[in-house]
Amino acid sequence: MVFAYIRNMEQLLQQIEAMKAEIAATVATTPEQVEQFRIKYLGTKGLVKEIMGEMKNVPNEQKKEFGQILNAFKMMAEEKMQQLQSALGDSDEQSAKFDFTLPGDPVAVGTRHPLNLVRNQMVSIFKRLGFAVAEGPEVEDDWHNFGAMNLPEDHPARDMQDTFYVQEASENNAAWLLRTHTSSVQARVMETQKPPIRVICPGRVYRNETISARAHCFFHQVEGLYIDENVSFADLKQTLYFFVQEMFGKDVKVRFRPSYFPFTEPSAEMDISCQICAGKGCNICKHTGWVEILGSGMVHPKVLENFGIDPEKYTGFAFGMGVERIAQLKYQVNDLRLYSQNDLRFLEQFKSV
Ligand code: DAH
Repeated sequence: MVFAYIRNMEQLLQQIEAMKAEIAATVATTPEQVEQFRIKYLGTKGLVKEIMGEMKNVPNEQKKEFGQILNAFKMMAEEKMQQLQSALGDSDEQSAKFDFTLPGDPVAVGTRHPLNLVRNQMVSIFKRLGFAVAEGPEVEDDWHNFGAMNLPEDHPARDMQDTFYVQEASENNAAWLLRTHTSSVQARVMETQKPPIRVICPGRVYRNETISARAHCFFHQVEGLYIDENVSFADLKQTLYFFVQEMFGKDVKVRFRPSYFPFTEPSAEMDISCQICAGKGCNICKHTGWVEILGSGMVHPKVLENFGIDPEKYTGFAFGMGVERIAQLKYQVNDLRLYSQNDLRFLEQFKSV
């Protein structure tokens, strides 16, 4: 007990002053010396603790004053400890050990998702043709997804099999659903804009499919819509031909096949020469040399009328294509599930694309 002999305040204060002087004079050049300082003053059996214990011997009327002195002492010891530690960190000895010429630690930069890369490329091609980007909600009402797009009540695409319903229709409420195609955004655009309209609508869509290599319950589409006076099927063909040439190169071949969509008349699907086997025949093109990439057509007069656009004055074309399909042809990805599994070994391969 270092302080056991202290009988009066005078002595106690002298003792504290002496320790303060000692603390102020302390130098430490090694971590061990800093640790010694810590143990001596701030350890569980250190001098700070010990002198704090003297409080009980201090007469009541001096307790307040003495308490303040003790606190100041404690703080001084703690500050000194910090100084010693940081001085050690910055010491010349430490910096001498540090080789500033070493290369820095590599920073892990993320990569863009392949579907984003393809989507961005698709968007930029259409932007060059003067298309603006429009987006719409993924949770949609029945009207924008189906009704406005001329899908009659009993159309099979409305079947519960394909559509995720968020809320089924009731007497007072329309059905709410996860949009099954980006054609719903066409409806939203026509609702708010007057012709001429020239938009593309990239986005995620949902269908109630069993997940496999070839199908997923969500995927991505890019929708296109062009409405103006004198828009013809030739414009549709030329626009889409330009797009695939930009996307896949000048050698790509296209063919249009008649098809049916409730929102277009006439309708066509477009195939391109298989980019995987160059038309020789493989699994992806089912040995035909052709791969379907989109649906398209001239906007149905009823759809125009639904939005107060005069079909006698205006015509338009529309198309919708899957981003995954384009990505598959570009990068030869054969399993759709890879896109949503977040496997870095897969995603990192698209770094330099
Ligand atoms: N909505 C169609 C689908 O999801 C794709 C489509 C076909 C969009 C023809 C269109 C179109 O705009 O004109 O399969």
